[in-house]
Amino acid sequence: MSSFSFEAWLATQSQRAESALLQYLDPDTAVPQHLHTAMRYAVLGGGKRIRPLLVFAASELGSIDRVDASLVNRAACAIEMIHTYSLVHDDLPCMDDDDLRRGRPTVHKAFDEATALLVGDALQTRAFEILSNVIDADSLIRLAQLEMIQSLAHASGSKGMAGGQAIDLQNVGKKMDLPALEEMHAMKTGALLLCAVQLGGIAAQLPPASMASLYTYARALGLAFQVVDDILDATADSATLGKTAGKDAAQDKPTYVTLKGLDYANELAKELKGRALDSLNEFGPQADALRHLAHLVVDRKK
Ligand code: IPE
Ligand code: IPE
Ligand code: MG
Ligand code: MG
Ligand code: MG
Repeated sequence: MSSFSFEAWLATQSQRAESALLQYLDPDTAVPQHLHTAMRYAVLGGGKRIRPLLVFAASELGSIDRVDASLVNRAACAIEMIHTYSLVHDDLPCMDDDDLRRGRPTVHKAFDEATALLVGDALQTRAFEILSNVIDADSLIRLAQLEMIQSLAHASGSKGMAGGQAIDLQNVGKKMDLPALEEMHAMKTGALLLCAVQLGGIAAQLPPASMASLYTYARALGLAFQVVDDILDATADSATLGKTAGKDAAQDKPTYVTLKGLDYANELAKELKGRALDSLNEFGPQADALRHLAHLVVDRKK
């Protein structure tokens, strides 16, 4: 039996994510102060930090002496900044028009729309600035950095998150068939989750076969993540979620729940969790954190 305590791992690694974000965000005294204050408000206002946790967990598959901890921290920060930017923009009136995020007023409510737009812009570029920063002349690390930048750019862009968001908005009030729904979810949410494990895997210099198994894990988990988000929107309350519940039905959004129903969505989430866990079979206890994260993502209440 492995002596791995996920509770202890989660506490340590969540703290690691918070410290890295604090380290890499500019202080609110930086000019322009209101923009930096709003950026910190967006990023430091809670959040489950699932993407940084996936980066950390995937990086544990490599041998410890090969992994550059600073690069892993910067990758974790970068992806959380991109994710946060996507939330700030997702909440804008021109998109989902939401007032509540992470238990507080959304950025455009607490500040204003122009600031929310710029917070997103600036978080996106800050992410790549952090990730590309050369602090080590080691050519292997620089190669890894380049690969990470490519991965994050692709996952965030028109064939990843931004593209998925475009498809989401285009399909409000419309019926989508199952392949189209799955593709939209894979893009708007799955791409960044896949990228998270990819960043960890690159930092760990994993061989291609291990990377392939990780991708299978992340594809299943990425889809599961959005399916569960859709389920929670329909079943949880706003106080628990920290964001407005029931919005998908109210806005006639294309989701697994609105298009296929709750039972279908619940079954699918369970099946995807199984698929994610199966894909880790070749790994030993060093994949325990990834295993527990699959349970956490699918069984979560918020
Ligand atoms: C919410 O993401 C938006 C989706 C991609 C489904 P999270 O559920 O990870 O949000 P935070 O970061 O914990 O607030
Ligand atoms: C958002 O999906 C996915 C993003 C890329 C931000 P949702 O619109 O369902 O996310 P929530 O429910 O507002 O967090
Ligand atoms: Mg949305
Ligand atoms: Mg939304
Ligand atoms: Mg949602």
